[in-house]
Amino acid sequence: MKDFWNNRFKEEGKIWGEEPSSITTVANGLFKEKKVKNLLIPGCSYGRNADFFAADGYQVSGMDISRQGLRLAINNPAIKYLMNSILEAPLAGEPYDGVFCHRLLDLFAAADRKQCLAKAAAQIKDKGYLFFSVLANKDPGFGQGEPSEENTFVKENGCQVHYFSEEDLINHFVDVFSIIDLGFFNDNSGHPLYYIFVQKM
Ligand SMILES: C[S@@+](CC[C@H](N)C(=O)[O-])C[C@H]1O[C@@H](n2cnc3c(N)ncnc32)[C@H](O)[C@@H]1O
Repeated sequence: MKDFWNNRFKEEGKIWGEEPSSITTVANGLFKEKKVKNLLIPGCSYGRNADFFAADGYQVSGMDISRQGLRLAINNPAIKYLMNSILEAPLAGEPYDGVFCHRLLDLFAAADRKQCLAKAAAQIKDKGYLFFSVLANKDPGFGQGEPSEENTFVKENGCQVHYFSEEDLINHFVDVFSIIDLGFFNDNSGHPLYYIFVQKM
C-alpha cells in the first residue's frame, strides 16, 4: 500500500486538488456541536483536509504512510504531520478529542478495517468522537476489478476498494461505538459516500 501511494503522489502530485473534500463541512458541524478541539486525521495525504480544520481553529495531527504525500503538504504551524500507519501500535502522547478519517477505511480488507477502528479509537479520549467517510456501493466503480472479499475489488491499478452499504457501515461500528449520526453524501470528488459519526464508549 505504501509503494502504491508513494508512486501515485510522485506521478500525480495533488491528486484531488487543493480544495478539501466537501465532506469536511459535515464533519465540522458535528465536531463543533461536541466541542472537539483537536483532531487526528489518519490517511491525511497532502493535508488538504487538515488545512481546512486548522484554518477553523482546530489543532490537527495528520498521519499518512506516504512520504511522497506528506512532502506535498503545506507547512502549517497548527498541523503536526506524522509518517505512520494507523494500523500500527498507538502513538505516545496526549489523546485527541476526535478523529476525522476520509476515504481510508474503504481501502482495507476486513481484518484491517477492524484494526483501523480499534487503533483510531485508541488515539482518542474516553467518550471522544470519530467521523469516517467511505465509498458507497452506489459508486459506479462497484463491481469493477477482481473480487477479493465481499463487496471488495482489486482494481486494475492494484488498489483494493471495499464498497459500503449503510447496513455494512453500521455493522462495523455498532458493537464498539455509540452511533450519533449517519448519512449519504455526494462529495466534490463526484463519489457517493456514506459517513458515520460515533462516540467512543
Ligand atoms: C484515498 S486516499 C485519501 C486521502 C485523504 N483522506 C484526502 O482526502 O485527501 C488514502 C490515503 O491514505 C493513506 N494511507 C493508506 N494506508 C494507510 C495507513 N495504513 N495508515 C495511514 N495512512 C494510510 C494513503 O497514503 C493516502 O494518502
